[in-house]
This record gives sequence, C-alpha cells and structure tokens, in this order.
Amino acid sequence: MGTIEDIESSRSSSLTTETEEIDEKDEIVRFDNVHKTYLIGASGIAVLRGIDLRVNRGEFVAIYGPSGSGKSTMLSVMGTIDRHSKGDVFLFGKKAGLNATDKILANLRLKDIGFVFQAFNLLPSLTAFENVELPMLLAGKPKKERIARVYKLLDRVGMLHRTKSFPAQLSGGEQQRVTIARALANRPKLLLMDEPSGDLDTKNTDLIMDFLLELHEKQKITMIMVTHDVGLRGYADRVINIRDGRVAGDMKIDQDQRMRMRKNLRQQVLRSRREETGWMSSTDSSESFGGVRTELRAPTDYGTVYATQESCS
Ligand SMILES: Nc1ncnc2c1ncn2[C@@H]1O[C@H](COP(=O)(O)OP(=O)(O)OP(=O)(O)O)[C@@H](O)[C@H]1O
Ligand SMILES: [Mg+2]
Repeated sequence: MGTIEDIESSRSSSLTTETEEIDEKDEIVRFDNVHKTYLIGASGIAVLRGIDLRVNRGEFVAIYGPSGSGKSTMLSVMGTIDRHSKGDVFLFGKKAGLNATDKILANLRLKDIGFVFQAFNLLPSLTAFENVELPMLLAGKPKKERIARVYKLLDRVGMLHRTKSFPAQLSGGEQQRVTIARALANRPKLLLMDEPSGDLDTKNTDLIMDFLLELHEKQKITMIMVTHDVGLRGYADRVINIRDGRVAGDMKIDQDQRMRMRKNLRQQVLRSRREETGWMSSTDSSESFGGVRTELRAPTDYGTVYATQESCS
C-alpha cells in the first residue's frame, strides 16, 4: 500500500468521471487505532482514543454520539483538515502519513473530498454562483463545464433563483444548500458532512436528502454524515456511535428500515406543508380534509372546501 502522495502522481481521469465502474469493496477510509490529542499548555486532551474504522466505497454512514465525544474531530482527521497524533489513517487506499505536505493534502481535499462543515462557510464576497464555481476554477475545469455544473447543482438544491445572491443575503438554510452544491462541485469520491441538516427545515431536508441519496445510488459516492437527527440516521446504510473518542457501536441498517424512515420523513413534510398553507399536493389529494374528500386546491380556495362540505351534509 502506497502513501497519499501516490494519489496525485497516479490520478487518472477515470477516478473523477460519473460513469466509473466501482468495486464497492474498495476501502475509502481506514482508521487503525487512531488517536488525537489536543495540547493545551502542558497538558493534553485525548479526544480520539483509538478509533478503528473501515468505510468502503459506496457506503452511506451516519455518525452520532454525545456532544464532545469527538465526532467533528474524527471527520476533520478524515478530511485531512486536522492531523491525528497516533495510529494510521488511510484514504482511498493510501496512507495519509503525518508528514504529508500541505500541498498534497490541499489538492486531495479539492478534488476528492467534499465538505459540508459549519466551519467551512461560503466566501462572503462571492455570490452563490461564484461560491459553487470556485472549487472547479481552482481545479482548472473549463468555463463551459463550470457554468453548466453550477446551474445543475444549484437547481438540485433548490437555489437556482438565488444565483446572484451573496451569502449575507441568504438564510442559514439557503447558505447550507449552496454549501452542499459547492461540496459536490468537483464530483468528490468522498462527501463528509457535519450536521448537514442543522439549518434546514423539514421540506429542504427532504429535498437535500433525496439529492444525496440519488448521488449515492447512481454514482456510488461515499458519504459520511454526523447527525443528531434520529430521522436522518434512517437514510444511512450504516450507523456508527461514537463515545469518549471511541467507536461504541457500528450497525448496518437494512433496506426495509431505511424505506420506513424515508416514508415517515415524507409524511412529516406533507403534514407541515398542509399546516403552513392548507394546500394539498396532488400526491395526497384523495386524503380526507376536515372529514370531506377533496381535490387539489389552491391555498386560498376555502370556498370550494366549504361548498363540498355543505353538499355532502
Ligand atoms: N482545537 C481544539 N483544541 C482543544 N480542544 C479541542 C479542539 N477541538 C475540539 N476540542 C475538544 O475535543 C472534544 C471533542 O470535540 P468535537 O468537536 O470533536 O466533538 P463533537 O462530538 O463533534 O461534539 P458536538 O456534537 O458538540 O459537535 C471537545 O471536548 C472539544 O472541546
Ligand atoms: Mg461536532
């Protein structure tokens, strides 16, 4: 097994195309007894205390655990933002040695890893469009390809109408959606997300999760997501519990359970939409509304509901 430096020298175009045939057993992340200790003055805080973990290509992993247990630190080490203190970290089958240069790691992050971290804010002086374009610009992608991809990604996260807005003009949830589009700009092989739905309402969580699941299913992108949201864990096919800097649980989720979780979330979305507007979508048009069967209605079409009730009584 080589080192992380080999990735750059052997980078082939086939690794970055969407149609790549993927061997799902490829090891994307491997932690062997990984420790991370932060030094504060003369003493150290042991945050990761011997993590052993393997994530294969195409897996969708959810990570949860108490506040302060080391989840974000673990994701930062995985993303090579932070260096571990002891043990071995392998990314894409190559060892991320403690002496890997910043240049090599920066290139790896730019091309192969997508980040949705709160600490990685959008650049305030760039529009939503420019923020999503930036990673592609840095990677030297041609202009035509950049423009097409920015529009496609912003469309998928429901932000096509705000391409010219600056981050300060966007809500927290809108910024988060642009951040997700940016993370996917260079078609990363690994997507790391720290509380991706933190700023999103139910409807947008559903939109984003649909998009991520499609990427996961069609392109076999490997996704690792830290979340406190029990509902979101059901989207993953594996759930890992972190406690006191160690892996305390590691569980596969079966397909049926995942489907149930998704259905529940969708029902919540429909319910909250109904509460907000009184509007019923075409998918639930046959449901009972006030005890009376209704058709698709505009939000203010109370007159029709009233008339239907009267004619039924
Ligand atoms: N740069 C740092 N210097 C010192 N201590 C740190 C540093 N970063 C994190 N820590 C400490 O490491 C521990 C784990 O932090 P981490 O952010 O990984 O937790 P977490 O599991 O993500 O928690 P949360 O659910 O609240 O986000 C905490 O006690 C935190 O104070
Ligand atoms: Mg955290």
